[in-house]
Amino acid sequence: MLERLPGFRDFYPEDCARRDFIFRVWAEAARAHGFRRYDIPTLEPLELFTEKSGPEIVSQLFNFTDKGGREVALRPELTPSLARMVGARVATLRKPVKWFNIAENFRYEKPQEGRLRSHYQLNCDIFGEPGPAADAELIAVCLACLRGFGAGPEDCALRLSDRTLWTLLLEAMGIEGAGAMEVLGIVDKFERTPREETLKRLRPHFGEACEDFLGQVEALMALREFGEMAAFMRSLAPNADIRKKIETRIGLWRELLDALDAMELSPFVRIDLGIVRGLAYYSGFVFEVFKLAPDGKGYAGRALAGGGRYDHLVGKLGFPETEAVGFGMGDVTMAQFLEEKKKLPPIVDAPDVFIVAAGDAERRAALGLATRLRADGIRTEYALRAPGFGKQFRLAGQSGARLAVVVGGDELAAGNARLKDLASGGEAVVPLATVPAAAREALAEGIGSA
Ligand code: HAM
Repeated sequence: MLERLPGFRDFYPEDCARRDFIFRVWAEAARAHGFRRYDIPTLEPLELFTEKSGPEIVSQLFNFTDKGGREVALRPELTPSLARMVGARVATLRKPVKWFNIAENFRYEKPQEGRLRSHYQLNCDIFGEPGPAADAELIAVCLACLRGFGAGPEDCALRLSDRTLWTLLLEAMGIEGAGAMEVLGIVDKFERTPREETLKRLRPHFGEACEDFLGQVEALMALREFGEMAAFMRSLAPNADIRKKIETRIGLWRELLDALDAMELSPFVRIDLGIVRGLAYYSGFVFEVFKLAPDGKGYAGRALAGGGRYDHLVGKLGFPETEAVGFGMGDVTMAQFLEEKKKLPPIVDAPDVFIVAAGDAERRAALGLATRLRADGIRTEYALRAPGFGKQFRLAGQSGARLAVVVGGDELAAGNARLKDLASGGEAVVPLATVPAAAREALAEGIGSA
């Protein structure tokens, strides 16, 4: 017996129904915020990811050489492809560009709780807007995707951080460029790594000062108030140049927090410099959304969503520099979250109508009725093998249909059909020509039993 590959999922109809529900809520939230849908290829040149996504994703690529000798990879994320699409038309696109997509991504990760080798992501991205208004708009759509399921600040939180502040902290300590990127990679794993191991990884960058640096990291990560954070950063500034940059940054933080407050989103947002983001291209505000732990303070499980500003990716692909901010929200962690919080509605996967026909002549009329009911958008089924009347009624009950349309010999002779409400047992005889309209009314209002 052949089994499916580890980390991949089969979607039975009930799984698809659940997935469709999640996608529908996401797409409605994105559209309500003015985002338009785009799409990209599943297979891309390997280089797009090796150059642009950063070492963590590169180690997880599904890549191979195609029959034309090209090095290719299944997309592990959508962002580099999207940046290429926007870059290619950046001169003519109306700004800001606000686009969304829901698509499958492939990452060769160790399958574990909340992590698979194939997952779907909603992505929303805004291009061409440098100010924090775009970051606020993006956070708003991200939170709307959770609120659309009825999730509130008692269920989840958005941890807001800033790569620029981290780079300024490193600059103040004399670390810039590639070294800074490596240190940020270490900081990103800080929460999941033993302290001794983190110190070992930091030593090549800081030597004897690594304990000092780690102290700064821990202090920065512990800050939860805007005022405290501003004071901490100001206390670092070793020269006028960095001091100026820190002041500018603090001003942008104030603007972003003000906008989020005006949008009534503050209850979801927590300042938390513990978020650094593993991907290489982020350049400014970054965030991740987590389910709250039962104590309401800490976080449980893997991130529900993550994103931030990446102003240099379009430029790095060879196009004119274009500001960008976006996030990805995954279906695996989201489905777990919604199930745990009981926010998934019962899945109704039954037909509306089941047609029961007495014999051959009635069956011909039944097939015509099925076509007309279906053309009217009414989900209609009938028994494909035409068993006896009693068996057909049993099948109608098992199907979960709310209404049976019965085409018996007497009814057909009179040009009628009988509608039977399978919940109340109520019945009504109607002319064949009016069955779709009568069925629609009966589905909306039911038929009382006599
Ligand atoms: P990411 O943080 O790698 O960001 O992924 C975003 C979300 O996708 C995660 O928070 C998680 O819910 C889900 N996810 C990621 N990997 C897996 C996996 N192996 N199994 C299940 N779920 C997973 C990005 O991908 C960025 N490209 C997002 C972005 C868009 N940034 C700017 N625009």
